[in-house]
Amino acid sequence: MSHELRTPLNAIIGFAQILTSDKLPSSPQEKKVFSNHILQSGRHLLTLINEILDLAKVEAGMMSLSLEPVPLAEVLQECQVMLEPQAAKGAVALRFGPAGNQHVLADRTRLKQILINLLSNAVKYNREGGTVEVSCAQAEKGRIRISVADNGAGLDSRQMAAIFQPFNRLGQETTGAEGTGIGLVLSKRLVEAMQGAIGFASTQGVGSTFWIELGRCAPAEARGAEPGYAILPAPSGAAGAAGHGPKKLLYVEDNAANLQVVRELLLRRRDELELLVAGDGQRALELARRHQPQLIMLGLNLPGLDGAATRRLLHEGPRTAHIPVIAITASARPGDVLPGLVAGFFRYISKPLDLHAFGEAIDSALRVGASCNE
Ligand SMILES: Nc1ncnc2c1ncn2[C@@H]1O[C@H](COP(=O)(O)OP(=O)(O)O)[C@@H](O)[C@H]1O
Ligand SMILES: [Mg+2]
Repeated sequence: MSHELRTPLNAIIGFAQILTSDKLPSSPQEKKVFSNHILQSGRHLLTLINEILDLAKVEAGMMSLSLEPVPLAEVLQECQVMLEPQAAKGAVALRFGPAGNQHVLADRTRLKQILINLLSNAVKYNREGGTVEVSCAQAEKGRIRISVADNGAGLDSRQMAAIFQPFNRLGQETTGAEGTGIGLVLSKRLVEAMQGAIGFASTQGVGSTFWIELGRCAPAEARGAEPGYAILPAPSGAAGAAGHGPKKLLYVEDNAANLQVVRELLLRRRDELELLVAGDGQRALELARRHQPQLIMLGLNLPGLDGAATRRLLHEGPRTAHIPVIAITASARPGDVLPGLVAGFFRYISKPLDLHAFGEAIDSALRVGASCNE
């Protein structure tokens, strides 16, 4: 990596030295050219550093992803607008197939980052007059596959084997096409962190198709829609695992979109959990008494009986006092939460929900709950 960082830095320092030196006079014309080199290297370095930091973050499991139902048509439209100028410059035609009203479970910003990398690759490694076609289709396991097909030069088997290696540009470093060689490996890590997959097929002389797959989900409903309550069964096979019954988690939330995210996260990843849902504090109390969940997750801004009052009543009830309660706050930053507001909660996590924080909070609350019951 040091080579990749040093090369643009050397250019920046070298040209800056020429520009500031009295012994190396340069014409106004040359000054402009040298400044442009500095600018270009600076931009390249910035992209490189951002990508390296992103990659380090995902690899350390520290990348904070906020998964939500993302409307595909909207995201693809935004990508198209961003890529059009680059495509026009390379005389490459961009074609987007219909995405309908399909939604995928993803972090919106990161999904865009991935798609832009695939699209910009398809444009910059294409030929003049080539095309890039984007299409969406249903895939296995309730997923949606987004494909980006180009008719560039394609890849040989040696290149295919090395395509996800960081910094490996497979020979493109000599062609003048800008790049860092990190885009694909970063895309792979990101899509996997969103519980999706990435792959490609390529034929030399014909072109390449890169695709990603992400979980399909229903669109988020408008805020204020009353989800009422429902008991979602644990997926089959989970209940009897290791001799324990499913663990019940009561989620109290009046926002249908947030409820949907939690439902997707839990049902896809946590087979051992059974989700109970209450739309307000009063229902939460009823369900908690009746079903004795192992854990309660409570939104603080509930209609009627608010989160803090609900927690107090849970705590005072002999049948519910022992259940750990995690607060879910809408504050932008955890530090914004008033200490008094979250006092008495086992933990609080803020929206948008971070996948790692969410899973970790559930695990530790379940551990604590289990040891209290022993
Ligand atoms: N659609 C494509 N067609 C041909 N080669 C590609 C395509 N996408 C990626 N590649 C090759 O894979 C390498 C790695 O891609 P990537 O990680 O996005 O890095 P970058 O685009 O910054 O070089 C590219 O340098 C290029 O050689
Ligand atoms: Mg790239």
